[in-house]
Amino acid sequence: MSRTVITGGLVITAADEIHADVLVEDGRVIALAAHGSDAAAGWRAGAAVLDATGKYVIPGGVDAHTHMELPFGGTFASDTFETGTRAAAWGGTTTIVDFAVQKQGSALREGLDAWHAKADARCSIDYAFHMILSDVNEHTLKEMDGLVEEGVTSFKLFMAYPGVFYSDDGQILRAMQRAAGNGGLIMMHAENGIAIDVLVEQALKAGKSDPRHHGEVRKVLLEAEATHRAIQLARVAGSPLYVVHVSAEEAVAELAQARDAGLPVFGETCPQYLFLSTDNLAEPDFEGAKYVCSTPLRPREHQAALWRGLRTDDLQVVSTDHCPFCFADQKELGRGDFSKIPNGLPGVENRMDLLHQAVLDGHLTRRRWIDIACATPARMFGLYPRKGTIAPGSDADIVIYDPEARQTLSAATHHMNVDYSAYEGKEITGRVETVLSRGETVLKAREFTGHAGHGQYIPRGTCQFL
Ligand code: URP
Ligand code: ZN
Ligand code: ZN
Repeated sequence: MSRTVITGGLVITAADEIHADVLVEDGRVIALAAHGSDAAAGWRAGAAVLDATGKYVIPGGVDAHTHMELPFGGTFASDTFETGTRAAAWGGTTTIVDFAVQKQGSALREGLDAWHAKADARCSIDYAFHMILSDVNEHTLKEMDGLVEEGVTSFKLFMAYPGVFYSDDGQILRAMQRAAGNGGLIMMHAENGIAIDVLVEQALKAGKSDPRHHGEVRKVLLEAEATHRAIQLARVAGSPLYVVHVSAEEAVAELAQARDAGLPVFGETCPQYLFLSTDNLAEPDFEGAKYVCSTPLRPREHQAALWRGLRTDDLQVVSTDHCPFCFADQKELGRGDFSKIPNGLPGVENRMDLLHQAVLDGHLTRRRWIDIACATPARMFGLYPRKGTIAPGSDADIVIYDPEARQTLSAATHHMNVDYSAYEGKEITGRVETVLSRGETVLKAREFTGHAGHGQYIPRGTCQFL
């Protein structure tokens, strides 16, 4: 039996903040007890003791939106499951939910098998999969039932990217109807891709080829319109809906209105929309390409609505949409034509820290930090209370977090396999110190002690908000 006791820290979950020691045995949390109590003192014999005095003891982060090795725009996201999960661990994330991709003309099963082949035996933290539907047909719809049964319980559809991942409204409605029947959760990339493609063509014809035009053609109204349409389609189908990477104030308003009406509609935003803006997309010398993602970064004024949405629970989750492409040889593919810049930003290592900074900046409480980064993503995607909290019976995925350490985010020091940081030079207070994944130390006092293959595939239950 392996036994670890974490002593002296402030345990923060979405529900509570308590000064307690935590007993871990064989990969699970066994008990919490007040510092100095007889119970806690009795745990130490034969145990490895991790001293968390003056530190926070928080659940490992659950990042419900990553794209390791995603094929996009003629290249692949530059983090493998090995490099990406190692970087996640450095940043205090102990579970990722990545997107397996159905290729057009292929079965879901083929896509899922391909994702297992990429991930299995390579991850240093636990992982699960959503499924991207890029070809909704009779066979696909039938396959959805089997996937839900085996623990792939959420399906991403795209209203954007015609000819690649795009589904039309009829396909979306059918997939939603299927999910309504089998307990699956539809995740929506809500942008009107057909209209966007017209604007892309017109911009390029007018000689507007720089990265900043990526943000200009992917208009706020086209995110809001698609969000509205997705909500109405979900209502017709009687299915729940989770809108991914929400960036525009007007899209948050659509979600808020739906939630006020009592609909099972959920929204996620990402650190890039909370901390970056179109100012970054406009950086000279093609540097703006580093910030090309979809939905795009918005003018800074949208950020207040996103923070407010997180506080009022109109947005429930912050995931990264980690999808890194190197500036030198991948973002470069779109020099002279912004529509060829691979879409996506790195961030899996930065999310917990950036959100802690948001606590210090007064945007969130500490418990809401843990809620949107750990507990709610775990509940949303059927992983709670195994993941997302520190409670008897939970996996001992635990982070000792130093709330006072200072750090400067930089590509020179990060562990993601990408040649730039979207947050280069940003000064942050707070840093991950030690990370346990199922009781095993994967990061100890800022030294990586994990290994590829420790991470287990986690079949998921269905959404726990329904
Ligand atoms: O720009 C992004 N978000 N790239 C990843 C694919 C997606 O749409 O999530
Ligand atoms: Zn998307
Ligand atoms: Zn994504």
